[in-house]
Amino acid sequence: MQINPLSDVLGAEIIGTDVGNLDDAAFDEVHDAFLKHHVLVFRAQDLPPEKQINFAQRFGELDIHIQKDNKYSGHEAIQILSNKKVNGKFVGSPSAGEAWHSDLSYTDIPTLCTMLYAVEIPEVGGDTEWSNMYLAYEGLSEKMKRKIDGLHARHTFNRFRNPRVEVPDVYKGKGKERYVDIAPPDAIHPVVRTHPETGRKALYISERFTIGIEELEEEEGQALLDELIAHQKQRDFIYRHKWDLRDLTIWDNRCLIHLACGGVPEGQIRHMHRTIVRGDKPY
Ligand SMILES: [Fe+2]
Repeated sequence: MQINPLSDVLGAEIIGTDVGNLDDAAFDEVHDAFLKHHVLVFRAQDLPPEKQINFAQRFGELDIHIQKDNKYSGHEAIQILSNKKVNGKFVGSPSAGEAWHSDLSYTDIPTLCTMLYAVEIPEVGGDTEWSNMYLAYEGLSEKMKRKIDGLHARHTFNRFRNPRVEVPDVYKGKGKERYVDIAPPDAIHPVVRTHPETGRKALYISERFTIGIEELEEEEGQALLDELIAHQKQRDFIYRHKWDLRDLTIWDNRCLIHLACGGVPEGQIRHMHRTIVRGDKPY
C-alpha cells in the first residue's frame, strides 16, 4: 500500500489498493492513516454501491441522511450528490455542501466519517476543500482558547434560521419545507471537541450549521462566531482536492470541516455517491 501525503496540512492518497479487498492488517493500516491524515483518497476504485457500503461499515454503523429523496434506488445508505437531471428532475441533491460544515453536526450524534465516490466529474470546477480543525484550534491565541473553553454552540439544519448561508432558489417558496419541516431539533455541542480516538482538541463550529453560542448574548455570540469562522478559513489550514474519476475519498468529520467549491459550468456533470458512518456524541 502506497500512502502519499497530499499537502502539509491534511490528506493522503492511497495507490494500488482495492478497498473491497483489504484484510484486517491492511485495514488497520488504512485506519491508522485515516487518523493521521484525516482525509484519504483511494485512487481508481471500482466501486458498485454494495462494495462502498461494505467498506464504510468497517468504520462503524451506517447512517441515513435526513434528505430522503436523494437515495440510490435499492441502497438507501447511498446518497446521490449530483447536478444531473432526468426528465427535468434532479437525480440527487444538486446543492449539497456549498458552505463550510461538518456532516450532521445539527444532530446529537453527528457523522464520524463520510465517503464520497466520484462517478462522474466535470472538466472544470467541483473541487472539495477541507479545513483542519485541530490546526485551527491550535492556531488560536491562548486568550481565545481560554475564552471558548467550556462554551457550547447551537447547530441547525434549517437554512432559513442561519443568516450566514443562502437558501438555493430551488428551495425557496414551495421548496421551503425542505429545510423547515425535515430539520431535527437543534443540537448543542461544545465549541471545542475532543477527538474520541486521538484525544486531540479540535474547533467544532461551522458557517453552515452553527447559529449561536449558548452561554453568550446574541450579539457577542455572533461576533465570536464571525471571528472563529474567519480564522478557520485561513489557507494555512486548508487542502483543496481536484477530483479524478473513480476517486474514493473518506474524511474525519470530528476534526475537519469541508466545502463543496462549486463552479461546475452548465452542461457538465458532477455525480457522486455518498455514505456516512455514525459517530458519537461530541464532548
Ligand atoms: Fe458534507
